[in-house]
Amino acid sequence: MNRTLAIVKPDAVASGKAGRILAHLEEAGFTIRALKMTHLRETEAGRFYAVHRERPFYQDLVAFMTSGPCIPMILERENAVAHLRETIGATDPAEASPGTVRALFAENKERNAIHASDSDENARGEVAFFFSDQEVLGLEG
Ligand code: CMP
Repeated sequence: MNRTLAIVKPDAVASGKAGRILAHLEEAGFTIRALKMTHLRETEAGRFYAVHRERPFYQDLVAFMTSGPCIPMILERENAVAHLRETIGATDPAEASPGTVRALFAENKERNAIHASDSDENARGEVAFFFSDQEVLGLEG
């Protein structure tokens, strides 16, 4: 078993799709191990997406991610990172396989309903970004 981080993004929360997305993730075999609702500040969203700082969509992405509450969560199952990326589908919902979260719930390439870590190393960093040691350690006991 291992863990990854997902975020139900502000578009999906605002349009009332969060519950259906959580159900979809559970049906795909993930266990929700920690979850919170938060509203990112600009500095936080900028830091989370720092790897995209030079991309043309960076400012829009930060504006979108700070536009309303989002729901970060720790998900667990075997091979969690790869399985979650398969479950959510391609970045652009027009290219996402049928039945994936983005094909079902995303609006477009930016407002794409959900984020998932892209490696075990980034999953560890992204879990630490949203959840304190105590919240994560609490999972073990
Ligand atoms: P995510 O998986 O959270 O990682 C980076 C995000 O940047 C991505 O989902 C999209 O929301 C956004 N993104 C990636 N590519 C583009 C693009 N070409 N135009 C607009 N937004 C993008």
